[in-house]
Amino acid sequence: MFDREKLKDIEDKMRDYDGNVKKAIERFPERKEEFKSTSGYEFKRLYTPLDVERFDYLNDLGFPGMYPFTRGVQPTMYRARFWTMRQYAGFGTAEESNKRYKYLLEQGQMGLSVAFDLPTQIGYDSDDPMAEGEVGKVGVAIDSLEDMEILFDGIPLDKVSTSMTINSTAAILLAMYIAVAEKQGVPMEKLSGTIQNDILKEYIARGTYIFPPQPSMRIITDIFEFCSKNMPKWNPISISGYHIREAGSTAVQEVAFTLADAIAYVETAIKAGLDPNVFGRRLSFFFAAHNNFLEEIAKFRAARRLWAKIMKERFGVTNEKAMMLRFHTQTGGSTLTAQQPLNNIIRVTIQALAAVLGGTQSLHTNSYDEALGLPTEESVRIALRTQQIIAYESGVADTIDPLGGSYVIEALTNNIEEKAMEYIKKIDEMGGMVKAIESGYVQKEIHESAYKMQLAVEKGEEVIVGVNKFNIEEDLTQKEVLKVNPELEEKQKMKLKKLKKKRDNSKVEKVLKNIKNTASSGENLMPYILEAVKAYATVGEISNALREVFGEYTETIVI
Ligand code: 3HC
Repeated sequence: MFDREKLKDIEDKMRDYDGNVKKAIERFPERKEEFKSTSGYEFKRLYTPLDVERFDYLNDLGFPGMYPFTRGVQPTMYRARFWTMRQYAGFGTAEESNKRYKYLLEQGQMGLSVAFDLPTQIGYDSDDPMAEGEVGKVGVAIDSLEDMEILFDGIPLDKVSTSMTINSTAAILLAMYIAVAEKQGVPMEKLSGTIQNDILKEYIARGTYIFPPQPSMRIITDIFEFCSKNMPKWNPISISGYHIREAGSTAVQEVAFTLADAIAYVETAIKAGLDPNVFGRRLSFFFAAHNNFLEEIAKFRAARRLWAKIMKERFGVTNEKAMMLRFHTQTGGSTLTAQQPLNNIIRVTIQALAAVLGGTQSLHTNSYDEALGLPTEESVRIALRTQQIIAYESGVADTIDPLGGSYVIEALTNNIEEKAMEYIKKIDEMGGMVKAIESGYVQKEIHESAYKMQLAVEKGEEVIVGVNKFNIEEDLTQKEVLKVNPELEEKQKMKLKKLKKKRDNSKVEKVLKNIKNTASSGENLMPYILEAVKAYATVGEISNALREVFGEYTETIVI
């Protein structure tokens, strides 16, 4: 990018600068010995063209909407369409969540994002002893198609895209969503949205798994195949780094382990006979946005470029749309503090700005009170307004990849791509991501990073404003937070009892039997699960039918 002569002049001038630095730090020593990113990358005092000497614009950056997509996945990015403002929401009964979705849509939200309670996520009905105390707590309780009909009542499913954070029971909830849309007169090919459907990160970091890896991967590829054939606008997976990062990984590990998961899904789907040029177009991703602003921007750009190279060079993909890393971002929940909660509005703003400057397609901004409880209408509105102010007032959405070409951003983007690729090569040598997870290697790497970060905070090397510096006396118990009504569990159980009385139970028995036979036969499960949900078979009943055939996963203990 710069000719040798010019670089020589810069090098000479640099020596003068270094002399000035020496004098300056005699009077004002620098704050720290080393200035490091979360991934251990040491920030230089100053970046110049000398740091991007081998910079090759066309190969390293290129143009937005073109390989290697470093600058973004769309030719016009936010000049034509802002990222989707998509707040993750759901709690209590379907009625309560439906009310919150309508509120968010009225406030200008552009897409829905459903949070399910834990029993729904791990395949237990609200009346199962395993569900006790968790019904409607961290998300909405969905037992049957009846709940799903209420959840989307009055929301036109041909006009809105819906994300569902559901993994082990993704096939069941997708089937219910299709069934609700059909009742609205919306055919499945018109539906746009995403199911998370990323089981590998559940084994690594999130924990809502049910079945062992092999049957889980089979269900995922059944969903890929079904969606490729019937739901051209649906994203059948959201390969997630968010929870890996929230578990304490570095930014580099977040990229590396997420893309390593993605490689495992692509390999499995190809083995099942699917074409990566087809299903590759609808793979989507999900990352966190944490506090180190420059590292986060570089992380998104590095992930986009690395994924494009992996799809083109490793899998021989030729369709450029199947090389695009389209992703959702959630600001880092684990960075929220219970202390001085209003400070979180500033943290979320910086993190959201990093996601936008990193080219996200969809964004959730955390509410400032989420370290204390479920967000109130006021706090969730402020979270949404944060996005709207960045979009409409800051100007950063008016030109594409505005930090592209910055010496530090390009140097950091290169470094993250390089370090992530080192991890992927190591995982390849271990026999791939499933084996790396089963051995506990991935979990161990994350735990070590989490431990180092915690130590740094405890030593005060990592400052968390309001927590280990700039503290105040404050009573956190007075803060108004949204609590789920404890009577909800009984109400949900009554609803289930009534449903089981009025549905055709012989039909339910038949469809559950079909599911068990299909699970053993290897045929695509989706059509049979769709038939079952339409007969009002419940999440728990369908999951138990699959448990009978697939068994349950027991975790590798990482010591
Ligand atoms: N020019 C032309 N077309 C454009 C454009 C532009 N500038 N910008 C957008 N578009 C088009 C897109 O191509 C797309 O059309 P297509 O589907 O035909 O390609 C359409 O407009 C919509 O744009 P996007 O697909 O970019 O935006 P979406 O919001 O629809 O999709 C996504 C984004 C990342 C691909 C999708 O997978 C998504 O929405 N993911 C969200 C996942 C999510 O919300 N997860 C939450 C998880 S919460 C959780 O797990 C945390 C908990 O555990 C704590």
